[in-house]
Amino acid sequence: KNTWRIGVAGLGTVGGGLVKFLTERPHFAPAGGTAVITAVSARDRSRQRDFDISGYEWFDDPVALASSPDVDIFVELIGGSEGPAKAAVETALRLGKPVVTANKALIAVHGRELAELAESVGAPLLFEAAVMGGTPAVKMLREAMVGDEVDAVAGILNGTCNYILTEMEQGSRPFAQVLAEAQRLGYAEADPTTDVGGFDAAHKISILAALAFGCAPHYAAAEVEGVDQVELLDIKLAGDLGYRIRLVASATRSADGVSVRVHPALAPIGHPLAETRGALNALFIEGRRIGRIFIQGPGAGSGPTAAAVAADISDVMTGARRPVFQAPAQSLQPFAKIDAAHN
Ligand code: HSE
Repeated sequence: KNTWRIGVAGLGTVGGGLVKFLTERPHFAPAGGTAVITAVSARDRSRQRDFDISGYEWFDDPVALASSPDVDIFVELIGGSEGPAKAAVETALRLGKPVVTANKALIAVHGRELAELAESVGAPLLFEAAVMGGTPAVKMLREAMVGDEVDAVAGILNGTCNYILTEMEQGSRPFAQVLAEAQRLGYAEADPTTDVGGFDAAHKISILAALAFGCAPHYAAAEVEGVDQVELLDIKLAGDLGYRIRLVASATRSADGVSVRVHPALAPIGHPLAETRGALNALFIEGRRIGRIFIQGPGAGSGPTAAAVAADISDVMTGARRPVFQAPAQSLQPFAKIDAAHN
């Protein structure tokens, strides 16, 4: 196939970045071929946008877009674990269409059933942009780490929270003011409670845990505490003692199962997590044979996240085939909540 017709549902921060990228570089895929957006959908057709959508077929309903015969690859950038995003992804997969999504909530909550559906019809379901958008964490765990067994993954997975913590520390400015700025910069979720409550980081670490440990994602098992209770005084006192506060997401494997947590933690100044500033994300991966890997980079924002979506589109064009997680979906067990760890 030479030309791949892309349907994009959702024209927010990431959708806009993808439109700009594919307009500039339709021949970006190393395997050859052309990727062109042919159809789009969003909530509001007439909204002011800084990119042109007049050349694309318009759909009010993302499910209709997903099933359009003019769409070869369905890109879901709507967000949310339920509702139209899920319905549209299921529709595309049932038709055997490749799906690329940035939707961490959807994969964290329904990853296993969607993977089963995708594998039963032989369609790829790719979500690099769902975690550390722009920094290849998903590919690292899914592809590069298959020669090892991962014992733990931990890091900073929410750009908004890290931006808030960094800015509060540097400028001694109050929480609400910095959050508004993070929203303006396009880092925050539509409902910023998802960010500051730690839920977005929990979605992401649930996905990474599934990839790292070969289980099904199980968002409900995560223990979550956000940064909404962190005050300027906490940040200052931590600083006086030589620490910075970071929202750390971690998943560890033990003989009892897998434990997944998100919580504010003290990182000593000089530690890579303490030195991860602004909207950056960071991740440690602990492999039994490889040892410790550390990656740091963008995890939010238009350009980086759209680059991750484009990398998945390229994989579809190349014809890469592998299970959605680390094993065929039917054999994946959900990870169990370990209460004992905190008693
Ligand atoms: N709201 C998310 C964040 C966007 O701040 O990290 C990227 O997933």
